[in-house]
Amino acid sequence: MTEKKILIAYGTRYGATEGVAIKIAEIFRDNNVLAEVVDLKEKSDFDNFDNYDGIIIASSIKIGQWTRHVKNFVRNMRLEIQKFAGPFGFYVCSAYAALDKQYAKVKEEYIPDKLTEFGISIDYYDAFGGIIDFSESSKMSWLEKKIMKLAGNQANGLTVKSDYTDLRNWDQIEKFALGFLDLF
Ligand SMILES: Cc1cc2nc3c(=O)[nH]c(=O)nc-3n(C[C@H](O)[C@H](O)[C@H](O)COP(=O)(O)O)c2cc1C
Repeated sequence: MTEKKILIAYGTRYGATEGVAIKIAEIFRDNNVLAEVVDLKEKSDFDNFDNYDGIIIASSIKIGQWTRHVKNFVRNMRLEIQKFAGPFGFYVCSAYAALDKQYAKVKEEYIPDKLTEFGISIDYYDAFGGIIDFSESSKMSWLEKKIMKLAGNQANGLTVKSDYTDLRNWDQIEKFALGFLDLF
């Protein structure tokens, strides 16, 4: 039997979504499944998904939105995604996903609700926490830091105390990766 090959195509702003893609690819390889990890900022010109047995698309969330590259990719490839016969998964990295009270709501809002706009339905998806980086080396501009601090007020329950907070839950991520392999 030939080895399975899975595409993990992602868009990231501050690195959380990329780190998760790399981790999922590692888990796949440990299970003898090939993973091709693609940053959609670098490459987005796919004709079809004939080379892949499974696809995972992933996005960073900023002010409720996927990255521009993820949006364009999903828009351009919507017909190919609709007719893709193998497992199709999606995840996002978002600060609110790390909050028990917000998790279920943002998981729906950031994934199936948005995919519906492109006529795409999905069964396998999850929302992971993100990275809040207020440090000197942060990729966030001062305005983004300000927005993040305002958004993270008590109303949302996100109180970030240190300069760098990684809200990703690696057990949740591993479960997502292994569950995806179970779809075959
Ligand atoms: C300006 C700004 C706006 C953000 N807006 C949201 C948001 O609307 N919802 C959310 O859950 N997280 C939000 N976040 C947190 C990001 O989702 C988090 O930083 C995550 O790590 C982004 O993924 P990335 O690191 O792959 O870019 C925001 C962060 C910044 C800096």
